[in-house]
Amino acid sequence: MIRVLVTGARGQVGTEVARELGGRAEVVAHDRSTLDLANAEQIAARVREARPDVIVNCAAYTAVDRAEGEPDLARTVNAVAPGILGEEAKRAGALLLHYSTDYVFDGTKRGAYTETDGTNPVSVYGRTKLEGERAIVQSGCRHVILRTSWVYGPHGANFMLTMLRLAATRDELRVVDDQRGAPTSARAIARLTRELLDRNGDTDEIARREVDEVAGHTGIYHATAAGETTWFGFAQAIFDEARRKRVPGRSPRLVAITTAEYPTPARRPANSVLSSARLQSTFGVAIADWRRGLEEAVSALPGG
Ligand SMILES: NC(=O)c1ccc[n+]([C@@H]2O[C@H](COP(=O)([O-])OP(=O)(O)OC[C@H]3O[C@@H](n4cnc5c(N)ncnc54)[C@H](OP(=O)(O)O)[C@@H]3O)[C@@H](O)[C@H]2O)c1
Repeated sequence: MIRVLVTGARGQVGTEVARELGGRAEVVAHDRSTLDLANAEQIAARVREARPDVIVNCAAYTAVDRAEGEPDLARTVNAVAPGILGEEAKRAGALLLHYSTDYVFDGTKRGAYTETDGTNPVSVYGRTKLEGERAIVQSGCRHVILRTSWVYGPHGANFMLTMLRLAATRDELRVVDDQRGAPTSARAIARLTRELLDRNGDTDEIARREVDEVAGHTGIYHATAAGETTWFGFAQAIFDEARRKRVPGRSPRLVAITTAEYPTPARRPANSVLSSARLQSTFGVAIADWRRGLEEAVSALPGG
């Protein structure tokens, strides 16, 4: 069995990745309490003791608005730490699988962004995530960087759970309708990650040869659910699905508003839609339409 070190194992994606790979690989899962990405020595020590074949970096500073006031910490976690993981991966001969974000773009493009489009982040979070990508590339390790978007799931801090929570106390919710993107469930990202490492699927174990095959395609890939919507469209779909699945809770009246009517500390791109065509053509894997991920995530809610 190959050995996989997972960081951020209590986050949305980390929880699902550790679960998805469990059994098919020997998973060494660390959360912040045992592997703090702000602690360079600890990163090196944990990687060296685990001697992994693959490092899946699920940890990140993801509080987009808070990052505007904590740029140093965001940079340490999102930019410096991935570089150290890259150096350690190179030293260990491991593949580094890392997640990045649609927020590396400024959102001014018409149509879906591809991997060759120029980046221009408009927030501290986006800038630090882009620096993290560059640090990994610079380290010279074998890597696959998956840029995903609008991550949500049945636990953690995310838009779906925020909507359902607010609905308990409010009759009306005002939701931004002029930012487009693809809500991508943490579960779907984890499944894609497993499929990438286990493309042949011919045994119950992920083989080293399969990891080498993936590593042969080192690079950056867009990896979001198919389709697109706005936050308002996503909110409508969340309450429709919750009603359909009879999840306990109220359905508020939804009002579409503009970004200008909902000022936040961090700017966000108006167009966050990414094309995952390169991922599909290189590895033959893709994430299904965002509505499928939503059905699955709502089913996993208590009462769903
Ligand atoms: N969430 C999104 O909408 C979104 C969109 C695009 C891309 N992504 C990317 O997808 C990846 C996974 O995100 P996610 O949605 O799973 O985020 P998440 O739920 O916020 O999980 C991130 C995890 O990282 C941990 N973490 C934060 N600082 C750390 C540190 N110094 N040391 C170790 N762990 C630390 C957090 O631990 P604590 O709970 O202790 O803080 C949390 O468990 C990230 O790379 C993120 O940038 C996310």
